[in-house]
Amino acid sequence: EMNRFIDALMKKMTIEEKIGQLNLPVSGEITTGQAKSSNVAEKIRQGKVGGLFNLKGVAKIKEVQKLAVEESRLKIPLIFGMDVIHGYETVFPIPLGLSCTWDMEAIEKSARISAVEASADGICWTFGPMLDICRDPRWGRASEGCGEDPFLGAEIAKAMVRGYQGKDLKAANEIMACVKHFALYGASEAGRDYNTVDMSRIRMMNEYMPPYKAAIDAGAGSVMASFNEIDGVPATANKWLLTDLLRDQWGFNGFVVTDFTGIAEMVHHGIGDLKTVSARAVNAGVDMDMVSAGFEDTLKKSVEEGVVSMDVLNQACRRILEAKYKLGLFANPYKYCDLKRPQKEIYTDSHRSDARKIASESFVLLKNDHDLLPLKKQGTVAVVGPLAEAGENMVGTWSVAAVLDRTPSLVKGLREVVGNKANVVYAKGSNLVSDADYETRATMFGRSLHRDGRTEKELLAEALKVSATADVIVAALGESSEMSGESSSRTDLELPDVQRTLLMELLKTGKPVVVVLFTGRPLVLTWEQKNVPAILNVWFGGSESAYAIGDVLFGDVNPSGKLTMTFPQNVGQIPLYYNHKNTGRPLPEGGWFEKFRSNYLDVSNDPLYPFGYGLSYTDFKYSDVELSSKTLTKNGELTATVTVTNTGMRDGAEVVQLYIRDLVGSVTRPVKELKGFRKIFLKAGESTKVSFTITPELLKFYDYDLNYVCESGDFNVMIGGNSRDVKGTGFTLKM
Ligand code: IFM
Repeated sequence: EMNRFIDALMKKMTIEEKIGQLNLPVSGEITTGQAKSSNVAEKIRQGKVGGLFNLKGVAKIKEVQKLAVEESRLKIPLIFGMDVIHGYETVFPIPLGLSCTWDMEAIEKSARISAVEASADGICWTFGPMLDICRDPRWGRASEGCGEDPFLGAEIAKAMVRGYQGKDLKAANEIMACVKHFALYGASEAGRDYNTVDMSRIRMMNEYMPPYKAAIDAGAGSVMASFNEIDGVPATANKWLLTDLLRDQWGFNGFVVTDFTGIAEMVHHGIGDLKTVSARAVNAGVDMDMVSAGFEDTLKKSVEEGVVSMDVLNQACRRILEAKYKLGLFANPYKYCDLKRPQKEIYTDSHRSDARKIASESFVLLKNDHDLLPLKKQGTVAVVGPLAEAGENMVGTWSVAAVLDRTPSLVKGLREVVGNKANVVYAKGSNLVSDADYETRATMFGRSLHRDGRTEKELLAEALKVSATADVIVAALGESSEMSGESSSRTDLELPDVQRTLLMELLKTGKPVVVVLFTGRPLVLTWEQKNVPAILNVWFGGSESAYAIGDVLFGDVNPSGKLTMTFPQNVGQIPLYYNHKNTGRPLPEGGWFEKFRSNYLDVSNDPLYPFGYGLSYTDFKYSDVELSSKTLTKNGELTATVTVTNTGMRDGAEVVQLYIRDLVGSVTRPVKELKGFRKIFLKAGESTKVSFTITPELLKFYDYDLNYVCESGDFNVMIGGNSRDVKGTGFTLKM
């Protein structure tokens, strides 16, 4: 029926109207008035626009939709997109934080709530999930992805697509997902945003593609091409990527949109003028042009000249119309324009309470000497640091719809959590960065985090005075939202000097100091690990983060987050990731420098905190691993089981992780790979058995000829609470 409808519609369309469907201009800003002033409104009337994005507010969206369905010749509805990346007005932790929950139900729920809120406000399409595997914390967009592991990334991809798209996009609270950034954007050289990517096919297929593929298999309706090049051709014009792999091999049947000005940027990449690159994009498999106006301005000519065939244009147009059809916009263009929904469905108490719970699950306890945490709700707590009073800093990057001025700060959140049981006092202590940095690069540090008028000395003096009255100091340090995210690459990942100085002074008071660390990426915390008794990494936890931090600091919630990206000892170790290859000259485990081995003179190969790591207020003990058999056959399966015991005094959750090593292969294989995980909850003193099923399918990888195979031979099985501390055994696969 869809095909018949679209066939009939396309018969009526002029070439200009077909090209119009491929056009995703920037809306200027978020009112019809401004759309008019940037001439978008007129283009909508002429049928020259396929959709708009990042326009907020259902009333405004309805007005713009009206232009399309009441004033354009063919009345084709627009699609309205937005970067709903980790929440709408109810904001969840940044995706890197969300991934540290290892809780697929929670992640799906966060996407579901995001879809409910966004759709209530007129949005039917989100530019997420972002699934770029990243092993380089210099890259600011590490914050937007799910870390370094392809297996975990693939699980998260499925959960997010389910959450956004619901069952079938039929309901008015289900929105279309957009898998991005396709592909390999997280591997930009030296962690510099938008930089060149160059990697072997075998690496991309084994280590970078699985999350994108999982999202496609889960039915994601659209894909966004990435900014980077692949094999010397920008992804936006890469036919191998967008057609051979995505459509022919993986069977994707949705539409491909570029990233913002992705087509025009190919002129700078150096592969032609706007007309040439636009033709290359559509011929490669791009269907929608975000902001470049390359299709709008040049495609007709390219069709007339025969550089782009009418078939290619028709196909792209059809894919956009199909998306609109699947979203139900032809049946009801105002499906997402119910003006009564926002009031009832956005930033509700129930959404906020879910966000608070999920935020507390995303925090990772990095250090907790002598059980300094949890704190008691008593006495005086001094909250010190440049990030303690900045409510808007809580939400992190890409929180387009967040209402920043109502987001509670850490100080406010802690005060509410302790009530009148304890006294929370506050001093800023330092600026975010040094005065010199503000003078040269003020804009990059964030709206709310302006330089304080006082001198560094005055700020410090106040902090020490306030701390003198306290029983414990909570130091809120780290990055502002703007210091990670898009276009926020960094080469120095240590705490800025002024913050380190403040921390040293606080430690000198002799009072217990807890660092509450805000960050969008792994930082280098080698000094802090050595000198600070307790560190709680809270990422950017979203709109309810301040309360969630209070819940964890004061023990109402036991932290259970586990890192999904390795924290290096220093920047020189990057890229550092747990699933590396062994090399021909490996270092014996736990060793350091040996001449003519693969290592450094000045630092061991170890991370500061490994992948999968995170502490709890209780302790978990793992038994040895039991295997149901020592042999796995072609159609068989075996079970690996451990008993996990909560040996501490508190109830708590643990993420039990299964790693496998393929000991001998036709190509080299990683020293370990995550192949399963289970998040369990154990009461103090309780034990449970956790079992994983291992099948030949789980052992497959892309071989030299890019066949997806598993090979007979010996395998190690490792289970533990992080990628370093595991118990192991082995089995043989006989195919
Ligand atoms: O979705 C984003 C993308 O991640 C980065 N460039 C802009 C797009 C649309 O806002």
